[in-house]
Amino acid sequence: MSKLFSPIRLAGQDFSNRIVVAPMCQYSADDGSANEWHLQNLMTLGMSGAGLVMVEATAVERPGRITHGCLGLYSDSNEAALDRILKAARRVSPTGTKWGMQIAHSGRKGSQQRPWEGGAALRAGEDPWETVSASALPFGDWHVPREATDDDMARIRDAFVAAAGRAIALGFEVVELHCAHGYLLHEFLSPLSNARGDDYGGSAKNRMRFPLEVARAVRDIVPEELVFGARITGTDWHEGGIDLEAAATFAGALKAAGLDYICASSGGLVPGLKIPARPGYQVSYAAGIKERTGIATRAVGMIADPHQAEEIIAAGQADMVALARGLIDNPRWPWHAAEALGAEMTVPPQYLRGHAPNWPGAKLARPANRPPT
Ligand SMILES: Cc1cc2nc3c(=O)[nH]c(=O)nc-3n(C[C@H](O)[C@H](O)[C@H](O)COP(=O)(O)O)c2cc1C
Repeated sequence: MSKLFSPIRLAGQDFSNRIVVAPMCQYSADDGSANEWHLQNLMTLGMSGAGLVMVEATAVERPGRITHGCLGLYSDSNEAALDRILKAARRVSPTGTKWGMQIAHSGRKGSQQRPWEGGAALRAGEDPWETVSASALPFGDWHVPREATDDDMARIRDAFVAAAGRAIALGFEVVELHCAHGYLLHEFLSPLSNARGDDYGGSAKNRMRFPLEVARAVRDIVPEELVFGARITGTDWHEGGIDLEAAATFAGALKAAGLDYICASSGGLVPGLKIPARPGYQVSYAAGIKERTGIATRAVGMIADPHQAEEIIAAGQADMVALARGLIDNPRWPWHAAEALGAEMTVPPQYLRGHAPNWPGAKLARPANRPPT
């Protein structure tokens, strides 16, 4: 019996398997509103059969977007646009597929060009905006952010709550706080980006204060039966930054604040690092956090082989695995993983004739099996 394809229950939600579509920014929204691109993307990913589909990092306020194309949930139009898309995606997804919303604030990494426009800080003439962070310390040569005031923090905390409220109203079963990849909540947490002299800087307790205030405020409005989790960093890959012990302390505090799971990612806080991104390179953080805190964890990062994913779950290193690039490359990955692991997977009847077990050509379609030319 495949463990990857075994069900799991978190809070009051049953997930049909342990495969998660990782959140992936599309940089394609119109003032935060989803459009036809998101429609096709989420319909395709929903049909994958993953137990949970995480929607991309979604800004809780307009200046909290990374680029002009980032998705948001800060207006009624954003909410209405996403409502149409989520309903359509649910209609073509296997029964029981759960949907998650990752709510985020870009902090000092906002006001950026889309990756395919260069990914640098927006220049004059490109409608740049003022960014805020824990401290006035820029990310590399990007805009110098303004140190967040008490009013900024109160506004942003309320914006997280409002966006979570909109996600709940839309029917998302999972709400996830983005506390990783060098964005605002991570900037408060890491000593490398937080040099504040007030109650929100200095000791680990102080640096965790703002992320935890946000987490508690959101927890207050997420109904018990829904799932509330966070993506955090397992390491900053830099001396003096967050390491596994610091990450586990933060995860433990999030657990005490009532969160149901942690997704362990890493990096994104310090520019220009060489990260040893080999298969499963972040799994040890999910495992370490699970072992130290007992909270359910999700592993992510260079997980592409179904047997590798199976082993992570079977060994108890994580409770779920998320794939990002592997699912862009092949949105039918879960179907093939089921085949490789001898598990059952519901394939839409319209597509059954092209499903590998029913189509002898499937073997030829795989590059590894191509006869030499
Ligand atoms: C196109 C793209 C967009 C991404 N956007 C997000 C995002 O919105 N939120 C997030 O937490 N991570 C984001 N990530 C990181 C992925 O969720 C994932 O953690 C990372 O790609 C490693 O997993 P992989 O090796 O399976 O791709 C993004 C990655 C890609 C490739």
